[in-house]
Amino acid sequence: MQSITIRRPDDWHLHLRDGAMLEGVIADTSRHFARAIIMPNLVPPVVTTADAKAYRERIVKAVPDDDRFEPLMTLYLTEHTQPDDVEAGKKSGLIHAVKLYPAGATTNSHGGVRDIEKAMPVLERMAKIGLPLCVHGEVTHPEVDIFDREAVFIETVLEPLRRRLPELKITMEHVTTKEGVDYIRSAQSNLAGSITTHHLIINRNAILVGGIKPHYYCLPVAKREHHRLALRAAATSGDPRFFLGTDSAPHVDPAKECSCGCAGIYTSINTLSCLAHVFEDEGALDKLEAFTSLNGPAWYNLPPNEDRVSLVRRDQPLSFPEKIETGDGPVTVFNPMFSLYWDVAIK
Ligand code: DOR
Ligand code: ZN
Repeated sequence: MQSITIRRPDDWHLHLRDGAMLEGVIADTSRHFARAIIMPNLVPPVVTTADAKAYRERIVKAVPDDDRFEPLMTLYLTEHTQPDDVEAGKKSGLIHAVKLYPAGATTNSHGGVRDIEKAMPVLERMAKIGLPLCVHGEVTHPEVDIFDREAVFIETVLEPLRRRLPELKITMEHVTTKEGVDYIRSAQSNLAGSITTHHLIINRNAILVGGIKPHYYCLPVAKREHHRLALRAAATSGDPRFFLGTDSAPHVDPAKECSCGCAGIYTSINTLSCLAHVFEDEGALDKLEAFTSLNGPAWYNLPPNEDRVSLVRRDQPLSFPEKIETGDGPVTVFNPMFSLYWDVAIK
C-alpha cells in the first residue's frame, strides 16, 4: 500500500509544558492532531478548574493561526482536590479527565497522591458523573524494582480500586507491559489503555546497550522485548480498549544529558510516520485509524474527527530534524533507529 487516508488523529496523552517550551512544541502536535488530552504536571501543577481554564487559554493562544486544535484539559489529582470543583469543571465542558500521579512516580509528581484513601471522595464523585481517571500506573516503593512497578501497581492499587469503585472509568496510561495489556483485555468494562509510539518501537536495550542513551529514557521505562511485542499486538489488534497516547514529553537537552536526567521522549513531530511504519510492519495498516482516530474518541465520549489526513509512502526516507529549537533550548527528537518513509499529507 502506498497511501492511506484516515480520520484526523487525536493524542490521548500529551505534555505541552508552558511558556517558551509550549510555544516551541505546540505546532508539532497541532499540525497533525485535532485534539489532545493535556497532562497537568506543570510546575506548579494544574489542580483546579480555574488553573485548567487559564492553562487552556495559554495553549489556545500558542496554536498557529492556520491550525485547528482543541486541548482537552485534565486536573492533577491531589489529596486536597475538591469534588465540587471537579464536577463543575466537567459540567462546564472544560475538564475531560483527572490524572492520578502516585507521589514521586515521575516528573513533577511530588504533589500527587500518597494515600489513595484521601482521594476517595473525588473518585466517588467522578464515578457518579462519568469522568474518567487517567492513571500513571506505577508504584513508587523503593523496594519494588523499576521494571516491576507497573505490574505491582495493577495488583496492589488498580485492581483493589476497580473492585471498590467498579463504575469509575479508568484509563491506564502508557501501558508498557504484557501484564498491563492482559489486564486491560481481561476487564469487563470501564478500563482502557493508551499506548505510546516509542513503547511500540524500543525495548530497554535502547536505553542501556552501548552506553547510556538518555533520549530513550522515559517513565514507565521501556521493558523487555516480549512486552514490546505484546504492546504491538494490542495496538494493531483493533481492540477498542487500546488507543494512542504519545506521552510526547519535551525536556531540553541539558536536562536529559546529565548525571540525573529527566524522563521523557519527544515524539510529536514524527509520531504518525513512526506509527504508519509499525502498523505496516505488522501488516495492520487497516487498523491504524482505529488506534489513532476512533478508539480514543469513543472511550472519551467524543465524536471522531470529520476531517482526514493522508499518509503517503515516499520512495526516499524522510528527514526529520535531530533536535527542535525552543525558547528554552534544544529538544532532541525521538530517533526510531530505522528510516521513516510515511509522510503526512493534510487534506
Ligand atoms: O517519561 C515521562 N515523562 N513520563 C512521565 O510520566 C512524565 C513525563 C514528563 O512529564 O516529562
Ligand atoms: Zn506523560
